[in-house]
Amino acid sequence: MHNARMSHSRQVLSERAACFVQAYAKINLTLEVLKRRADGYHTLSTVMQTVDLYDTLFLFTLDEDEVRITCSRPELGNEENLAVRAARLLRARYAVRQGVEIELHKRIPVAAGLGGGSSDAAAVLRALSQLWQLPVTPGDLGEMAASLGSDVPFFLTGGLALCEGRGEIVTPLAPGWLSSMRWLLLLKPAIEVSTVSIFRRVAARDYTDGAASRAVVAALQAGSEPRAEDLHNGLERTVLELHPEVARARADLLAAGCPVVRLSGSGPTLYAPFATLSRAGMVQESMQAQGYEVYLSRAIYPDMGPVNVMYK
Ligand code: C5P
Repeated sequence: MHNARMSHSRQVLSERAACFVQAYAKINLTLEVLKRRADGYHTLSTVMQTVDLYDTLFLFTLDEDEVRITCSRPELGNEENLAVRAARLLRARYAVRQGVEIELHKRIPVAAGLGGGSSDAAAVLRALSQLWQLPVTPGDLGEMAASLGSDVPFFLTGGLALCEGRGEIVTPLAPGWLSSMRWLLLLKPAIEVSTVSIFRRVAARDYTDGAASRAVVAALQAGSEPRAEDLHNGLERTVLELHPEVARARADLLAAGCPVVRLSGSGPTLYAPFATLSRAGMVQESMQAQGYEVYLSRAIYPDMGPVNVMYK
């Protein structure tokens, strides 16, 4: 049995292997900034949740020694793309001689606080280590993910998790979605926000001690509703002050009847949870009529098992 599998894998290595993989977005239920570190990063305590808005990647191994990308948003189809950097990192780390062609269908808004680029990178690490049949351990994957960006490790497991340290220390949590948060509206104001510019402006008065994240984790694990004030984002004050478009969108969501509106990550995307589809749908229509980009979404627990490899 073992030998049969070995010879099979040797045989398929000479063929071209391909797969489709979905890379989901996230929202931050909490994002607490605890302090500034000596290296310029901040110590965080953040509860992240995967949502069912996703990019699709098609990965196709090449005999040539190349990493190529084309993207549905052509301005993102370059060497800087985190998906390309993830592929290059794997190649270098495991001295891979094969290359890969990446097609990236972008749906997650860019520079929006939804983790799209990080999720694409995690999807490439996960899928390509399977296509190239690399002896990668979960620890290796986590380490490579953290070197690509603070929230890339979260996307290796996804679902619901408490993320600490720079964001790279991920503690997965049992699914704990509540009736008040069955549906999520994601509203993306028509601006892009640079994470670096927001973290640079965060001040000591925005620092908290992690109690809100602990309270939200405790509530979710107990199956009870988190208190709205515990859904705290320490970057929100800075983003609302710096970007009036986000403050206006927030006011418009509240005026349309959202019980709770919060910033995701460093924004500008705002999310609003709803207990019923009808209510979420009404607010979505009203916001779209005002010209806003709005997604009706929900929490999701993606399958992180083996990818479905096709051979040619
Ligand atoms: O890790 P990543 O490259 O995604 O972070 C982007 C920027 O966000 C960092 O350069 C830093 O300015 C800021 N950041 C931070 N503290 C974190 C994560 C990110 O200050 N924990």
